[in-house]
Amino acid sequence: MAQYDVIVIGAGPGGYVAAIRCAQLGLKTACVEGRETLGGTCLNVGCIPSKALLHASHQLHEAEHNFAKMGLKGAAPKVDWKQMLAYKDDVIGQNTKGIEFLFKKNKVDWLKGWGSIPEAGKVKVGDEVHEAKNIIIATGSVPASVPGAEVEVDEKIVVTSTGALELGKIPKKMVVIGAGVIGLEMGSVYSRLGTEVEVIEFLDAITPGMDAEVQKTFQKMLTKQGLKFTMGAAVSKVETKGGKATVTYKLRKDESEHSTEADVVLCATGRAPYTDGLGLKALGVQLTKRGQIATDGHWQTAVKGIYAIGDAIEGPMLAHKAEDEGMACAEVIAGKAGHVNYDVIPGVIYTHPEVASVGKTEQQLKEEGRAYKVGKFSFMGNGRAKAVFAGDGFVKLIVDKETDRVLGCHIIGPSAGDLIHEICVAMEFGASAEDVALTCHAHPTFSEAVREAALACGDGAIHA
Ligand code: NAI
Repeated sequence: MAQYDVIVIGAGPGGYVAAIRCAQLGLKTACVEGRETLGGTCLNVGCIPSKALLHASHQLHEAEHNFAKMGLKGAAPKVDWKQMLAYKDDVIGQNTKGIEFLFKKNKVDWLKGWGSIPEAGKVKVGDEVHEAKNIIIATGSVPASVPGAEVEVDEKIVVTSTGALELGKIPKKMVVIGAGVIGLEMGSVYSRLGTEVEVIEFLDAITPGMDAEVQKTFQKMLTKQGLKFTMGAAVSKVETKGGKATVTYKLRKDESEHSTEADVVLCATGRAPYTDGLGLKALGVQLTKRGQIATDGHWQTAVKGIYAIGDAIEGPMLAHKAEDEGMACAEVIAGKAGHVNYDVIPGVIYTHPEVASVGKTEQQLKEEGRAYKVGKFSFMGNGRAKAVFAGDGFVKLIVDKETDRVLGCHIIGPSAGDLIHEICVAMEFGASAEDVALTCHAHPTFSEAVREAALACGDGAIHA
């Protein structure tokens, strides 16, 4: 029986980062992982593989729509789906092996198998029980079932994001249930590969919680790209027969029932915390009403010495939120002051164009009754964006009306997922729009659009 200072259960972005940081802080650390490879959902069946497919399908889109405009003539490439999946798998392999290397480098032991906690201070993996002064639960999440609907997932015709990343062939028609991040990213991939994609969404706007102006512009752009949206519709049933699926839904406005056929149905109606088999109930670890592990301000559960981070606890289900919690939790265990600023966690959707946001939306500030100013700048006024056919979209900066302090930013446009971090840093430093506006930005870069939005909060943008 091995003895550790910390055993982390789960080697996703939350768990593996926590394990590495614990080891860096001098704690004897092990990480339990039952998958064949490290990296959790994100690296194996989530963020990374989807980005590979988004990249590949975007290249096809460029070849089909923009190459000829630039004088690059020739037949558009043909899709070799098997090779595209092999490329995606290679990307996964490189990343998961990278984590294995980092574990070795930092002397983190990988305990292979599925872990449970028979009692505080002990972690069971297979037949072996290991002792740990501290345990971090980082078991992540799994696709949630479609609420209020009869749906049986077979990962072939009716799939979650996992099955959508390895379909046997490119479907002719795909129905996506849920216009959230997963539905739109995977819907974009298949739409670009020639699939007819219909998205059925319960609410009246896509990407719940996003800035309303971004939601509208985003939906328009995706519609222009060929995605079809059926809004205000609750899916009630998915039936499969003869290799096809029939999706039944009710329109909320008049309760009328409709159905549509598809070769593949992607269920993307959210994810749920994964805590099965850990033995939490017997331990006395408390859960929230939504099944998340309840923690205090320092990621400690109701049981001393047992911590939890990432998708298994409250907050946005984002890899980078889990990573930050992993680092901070390790620091708390090592007696340092671990901290996560939940007000500055960016969210990115990796479609084309990308969508990114951080901080408050206008809607939230209105509800809070806080006076604010908006500075907006269209990528049409950005030379670099025009050069690469990316003039659609905008940067919207929201600042306090009195103090000019940056409160939020919402971007739809080229490299939005990278641009947003300038504003994250600005917010961490309590910067004003004027601070951003007075910072020299290289020309010609997309980032000038961020500066222009900051200028628009003051005396005005130059290129508007
Ligand atoms: P989501 O919560 O983002 O969106 C689910 C959508 O499904 C909602 O708009 C909801 O109104 C709709 N819906 C629910 N029940 C329905 C029904 N019966 N009929 C029609 N529509 C229905 O969930 P999603 O996209 O599955 O993502 C899960 C999690 O994974 C999210 O927390 C997301 O942030 C995270 N994620 C993040 C990514 C990123 O950061 N780029 C990429 C992929 C996932």
